Amino acid sequence: MAKITINDFMKKKSAGEKICMLTAYDYPFARMADEAGMDALLVGDSLAMVVQGLDNTLPVTMDEMIYHTRMVSRGAENAMVIGDMPYMSYQVSVEEAVRNAGRFIKEGGAQAIKMEGGSEVCDRITAMARSEIPVMAHIGLTPQAIHRMGGYKVQGKDEEARKKLLEEAKAVEDAGAFSLVIEAIPMDLAREITESISIPTIGIGAGPHCDGQVLVMHDVIGIFDRFVPKFVKRYAELKDEAVIAMKKYREEVESGEFPTKDQSFK
Ligand code: KIV
Repeated sequence: MAKITINDFMKKKSAGEKICMLTAYDYPFARMADEAGMDALLVGDSLAMVVQGLDNTLPVTMDEMIYHTRMVSRGAENAMVIGDMPYMSYQVSVEEAVRNAGRFIKEGGAQAIKMEGGSEVCDRITAMARSEIPVMAHIGLTPQAIHRMGGYKVQGKDEEARKKLLEEAKAVEDAGAFSLVIEAIPMDLAREITESISIPTIGIGAGPHCDGQVLVMHDVIGIFDRFVPKFVKRYAELKDEAVIAMKKYREEVESGEFPTKDQSFK
């Protein structure tokens, strides 16, 4: 199978086929997600919370994102790899934004980048697209705006907010984004956005009418248990299984049951 490209995203939307994405942060998990047939792997800045153990996504740096993107790129044979622009890597100037986005492609081996924001980042989206960097936009709940939003809250609930999100979706499409993440918004609004733009929408907490879905890997397979958002479905409880295996190993070391001759050299 060939590498998935942004053209495949468009083809899937036209054909009414769903796009399936997961986050990934390192080589072994990227390999597993690739084998499971993901269309794309997002090296999300969510790694700050689920890998680095931080309280929010704000502290993660460009260098850390590149480090993780390299590992994911090595494990993704078919899935498109998308690097997530961390907080303060694109806010200061268009020039800095393009330079940092380029690092994901040049150093990280990614095929595209994702960036949070609507009309305020349209000049960045256009400049990146002109530099041959495909951009996935991200509106609705944008976790880097946690202090302005006053927490992780569902967006687009009143008429004014709905209208604004519809305008933002159109604006990022016009600016040149190839797809759009819509996070934590009412499902009927997600449907309206999906039907009103020609680029694919990828929902997270946005209901079933989006062109595709994305979830955080560590939520889906049950490794992250500090909190579980309402929109998450857990398909396995791997943390529990891992703790059972590690406990058994400890008990066998303590009792002298491990290692036996089978695990020893003559
Ligand atoms: O950082 C992230 O993982 C994300 C998604 C879950 C959309 O932005």
